Amino acid sequence: MEKVKVGIIGCGNISDIYFKNCSSYKSLEVIACADLDVEKAKQKAKLYNIKRAYHVDEILSDTEVQMIINLTIPAAHAEVCIASLEAGKHVYVEKPLAVSLEDGKKMLDLAEKKGLLLGGAPDTFLGGGLQTCRKLIDDGEIGKPVAATAFMMCHGHESWHPNPDFYYQQGGGPMFDMGPYYLTALVSLIGPVRRVTGSTSTSFLERETKDGRKIPVEVPTHVSGVLDFENGAVGTIITSFDVWGANLPFIEIYGETGTMSVPDPNTFGGPVRIKKQGETEWKEYSLTHNYTGNSRGIGVAEMADSIKSGTQHRASGQLTYHVLDIMHGFHLSSINGTHYLPFFKPERPKSLEPNTEF
Ligand SMILES: NC(=O)c1ccc[n+]([C@@H]2O[C@H](COP(=O)([O-])OP(=O)(O)OC[C@H]3O[C@@H](n4cnc5c(N)ncnc54)[C@H](O)[C@@H]3O)[C@@H](O)[C@H]2O)c1
Repeated sequence: MEKVKVGIIGCGNISDIYFKNCSSYKSLEVIACADLDVEKAKQKAKLYNIKRAYHVDEILSDTEVQMIINLTIPAAHAEVCIASLEAGKHVYVEKPLAVSLEDGKKMLDLAEKKGLLLGGAPDTFLGGGLQTCRKLIDDGEIGKPVAATAFMMCHGHESWHPNPDFYYQQGGGPMFDMGPYYLTALVSLIGPVRRVTGSTSTSFLERETKDGRKIPVEVPTHVSGVLDFENGAVGTIITSFDVWGANLPFIEIYGETGTMSVPDPNTFGGPVRIKKQGETEWKEYSLTHNYTGNSRGIGVAEMADSIKSGTQHRASGQLTYHVLDIMHGFHLSSINGTHYLPFFKPERPKSLEPNTEF
């Protein structure tokens, strides 16, 4: 199969796993990379044997590049995506889709107008763990989902990330940073969300980096929310950068006839466990699907297949926009003291066949 030729913009922390993984998917070939700091692009190009290291305008005018993977910081996502779409490239962007809903909508509209595909992270819901959960739910193993909980509690990323400032600026915070993994998993497992309610707080006005530099905190760092799903299930989610320790599960789905314990949605593997009505023990289920190791980029590969086949890609702009809308909904609900109704409800992404290979 002829590969889709890809250019990566943003050669920072997360780019290594994309450089490593993308060459292993049969539909992708990374031929170029770029960064605001061209030296960073040159370093990655050398490390991963990429022929062309560019400034951003150069990669966008390279007619061989068909698709851009946008791995810049959240504040630059919209600008880089819009420039890429304007240059006639398909785009896959790291999460969140954009900082503002207006920019997210602009990106969706532009992609449609240009006849190009827009997709976005996370793609962990296409991994073996979450696809096994999806199959078990679709097979009726826990009955119809009636409720769910999701928890991501930590004390932020400044203890390890070399440039953690963006986590505390607009587009950052625990919900915009980690919420996409949890919300995308929930939408894939239960379906779209029709109503959102939230309360938020900022417990610490400053954060300290590894080297003792102070970062001002501009966003809520504890976000507690309620999700009313279209199918009637009610979800509870907390994402926090204010907590030193917690004993809460990642995600649990409560069905009419059993409870499912869902693996960490920031990973691709298991374990997947179910406790059924009337049973006293939890049972661990074997994973039915491939891609259980760090398979970041699987969403890009699936999108590349869709470019060729004309089918709907799963990690789509519509799905990432829905997640962005829900995340804004928690914050707006907290500010306004009202429920929030998401702008539109996308289709639940189709499940993968167990033996699918990209
Ligand atoms: N670091 C992680 O573990 C991780 C995990 C999952 C997702 N992400 C997401 O990946 C994205 C990047 O995160 P990171 O940790 O790699 O950040 P980073 O700060 O390490 O790297 C971002 C890179 O983008 C470049 N950049 C910024 N603005 C640009 C622009 N306008 N044009 C071109 N290049 C630009 C920067 O120079 C930098 O090299 C973020 O959206 C983040 O949410 C990060």
